[in-house]
Amino acid sequence: MKHTHIIGVGGYLPEHIMTNDDLAKVVDTSDDWIRERTGITQRHIIAKDEYTSDLATRAGAQALEDAGMSINDIDAIVVATTTPDMIFPSTASMVQHKLGGKGFPAWDIQAVCSGFVYGLAQVDGMMRGGMFKRVLLIGAESMSRILDWQDRNTCVLFGDGAGAVVLEYKDDEGGIIGSVLHCDGSYRDLLRAKHAHPGASPHNDRLDMNTDAAGVAAVEMKGNEVFRFAVTKLGEVVHEVLEKYDIKQSELDWLVPHQANIRILKATAKKLGMSTDQVALTVSKHANTSAASVPLALNDIYRAGKVQKGQLLLLEAFAGGFAWGANLVRWSK
Ligand code: UT7
Repeated sequence: MKHTHIIGVGGYLPEHIMTNDDLAKVVDTSDDWIRERTGITQRHIIAKDEYTSDLATRAGAQALEDAGMSINDIDAIVVATTTPDMIFPSTASMVQHKLGGKGFPAWDIQAVCSGFVYGLAQVDGMMRGGMFKRVLLIGAESMSRILDWQDRNTCVLFGDGAGAVVLEYKDDEGGIIGSVLHCDGSYRDLLRAKHAHPGASPHNDRLDMNTDAAGVAAVEMKGNEVFRFAVTKLGEVVHEVLEKYDIKQSELDWLVPHQANIRILKATAKKLGMSTDQVALTVSKHANTSAASVPLALNDIYRAGKVQKGQLLLLEAFAGGFAWGANLVRWSK
């Protein structure tokens, strides 16, 4: 039977690393507080002359290489991002051009930190419907460009990066089993970036305290309320997706969660009866890279040689909106 398979995986993190101690020089915080409350020790920050599409292009190129494919083998590019280069055209169209592609469809989707999980569900559905045979799906963010670097409640939590997968619809064992998605817009004000911004371009550099953008409120969050809701809804959605596809939690090999906070990840793993070494954990080194966090976590365990053919993976994410969801994948690579 035909399924959508992950046949290539890639990731890219900008070179510059900002540690918690570096951050403590910018805002009133400490390494101890950040580690204890979030599990984060450092984050990668995009270079002044880089765009989200540059991170996405590098991750996409690595995923194509891993799949043994060129851009000419691809039927579509989908980029999940909250921090597009510009309001338009789409970051996906920039990535298509930078990878040397032409003609095939390319578009962005926006579900904030759940963007990759939403994207995987969307592309899988389209592939099952016969639209495409091979798709490059990327989650890419430069969150540092939409943070208020004077707000310690939010600026310590995020980082920049990109993760990517090449998806192929083919007759083979395993692949994407299915997905569950949710959104409840009544919670829209608890986590948001309400100001229209001119795209996450270098002109909008919030780390440069001499620009107009510095200190302008962007990402705002009622952390405590988001935390409680995330723990509850993620606990529900992981069981919902298992039930929907008639799979027991004891069959799971890997949890590949959105990397917002180590305490949230551990709470979800506990609800699934999984040990910490069954969880893809990158929050410590990457912080929260929004739509990039799930594919970067997948890339991390994949490149470490930890994921075996036939293993069962549960991907999940929780985001502003609130928007949340989960995908079940039988690893077939
Ligand atoms: O990706 C989308 C989903 N996002 C999330 O899931 C994030 C969910 N929320 C969280 O991860 C946590 O709520 C936070 C890490 C954001 C905050 O942790 P918390 O344990 O909920 O702390 P809190 O907000 O209750 O703050 C406790 C104290 C406060 O001081 P007072 O009022 O008790 O005196 C804060 O002002 O910690 C203070 N605080 C800080 N102190 C040092 C807040 N941020 C910082 C900071 N450094 N960076």
